[in-house]
Amino acid sequence: MSKASALLAAGIALGCWSNLASAASQEPIQPVEPAVIKEPAKVELGKKLFFDPRLSRSGAISCNSCHNLGMGGSDNLKASIGHQWQQGSINSPTVLNSSLNIAQFWDGRAKDLREQAGGPIANPMEMASSHELAIQVLNSIPGYRAEFKQVFGQDRITIEEVTGALAAFEETLVTPNARFDQWLRGDKQALTLRELAGYELFKNSGCVACHNGVAVGGNSFQKMGLVMPYQTDNKAEGRAAVTGKDADRFNFKVPTLRNVALTYPYFHDGEAATLTQAVDVMGRLQLGRTFTPDENAQIVAFLKTLTGDQPAIQYPVLPPSEDDTPRPEPFVK
Ligand code: HEC
Ligand code: HEC
Repeated sequence: MSKASALLAAGIALGCWSNLASAASQEPIQPVEPAVIKEPAKVELGKKLFFDPRLSRSGAISCNSCHNLGMGGSDNLKASIGHQWQQGSINSPTVLNSSLNIAQFWDGRAKDLREQAGGPIANPMEMASSHELAIQVLNSIPGYRAEFKQVFGQDRITIEEVTGALAAFEETLVTPNARFDQWLRGDKQALTLRELAGYELFKNSGCVACHNGVAVGGNSFQKMGLVMPYQTDNKAEGRAAVTGKDADRFNFKVPTLRNVALTYPYFHDGEAATLTQAVDVMGRLQLGRTFTPDENAQIVAFLKTLTGDQPAIQYPVLPPSEDDTPRPEPFVK
């Protein structure tokens, strides 16, 4: 049980809520808890892997290339640039708070961070390596061999260890202490009246039906274009690609709105360049409501209060390759 839900259970049992606690508990959004780091050595190893471009065939692309931790865990591009400058097929979602998601990817095809992490390494459009090659590279590097052995207690590095370490690192990438969370926790000065008005609109107009919980999203799949169809040239089918059901066509994982001010452009096709555009589209297509420019600006002001403390990352020093480390192949067709 999380600390918050334990508290909640205790509060209900004792029937002794202070006004403050009961006010916060009635909100459809809950604060982000700071990461609890149980296995620091594994997290540190995962961080190295996250920044290591040698997991890619070109030796130039790391997880951080498309999930830049200095840019809200995204690349701020409509679609990512992959191996040999290939155009990605879908917008890169943030890795920040992704541990809170019900599943990974826009269509939820990976059940958790571990399952997800093997994907990009072997995706020919992304890092274009293979699990075998990535493991061969890592096994040839004495610094990695020693570190994996220290963390996992085995002599040979496996792909399960790689994805496990990456997931352990990603679990630490939460962003607590947003101004909105300070407000939720009882600091009534943390938001301006305008931001609060935006939050009221966000609740009353129905955005919270899909964007709720700790991540303000991430916990369900919903139709894009519920009231009015969404027009796009993007080929993505959404959840239907996983379930094969026609009813799931254009159902996408509701993105988290945590740090949304940093993760432009928006939507799976990256077609909304600004928050103003994204809020306008959401209002019309999901709720059948056209916001006035002032209402839109109020909601945007609220969304900007969802930026939390960004992970304080010290750039890792990566262990050097050896003479027998397979060399990068940036230009091989
Ligand atoms: C070339 C760009 C690129 C690289 C490199 C890349 N990713 Fe991604 N990542 C993406 C894109 C695009 C998606 C969305 C794909 C989809 O949903 O179909 C994604 C999705 C994800 C997600 C799911 C987030 C969510 O909310 O669903 C996670 C987690 C993630 N990547 C982690 C990683 C890790 C770890 C690595 C390194 C092993 C990595 N990525 C390398 C572009 C990239
Ligand atoms: C019926 C569910 C639903 C409702 C209601 C809804 N959204 Fe969304 N929202 C989604 C889905 C699904 C997406 C992803 C759509 C896509 O990428 O194709 C999304 C995406 C977004 C994004 C872009 C996030 C990103 O990282 O790309 C923003 C911003 C957003 N919504 C804000 C709002 C606001 C503000 C409201 C109320 C006016 C709202 N949403 C109402 C389901 C909903």
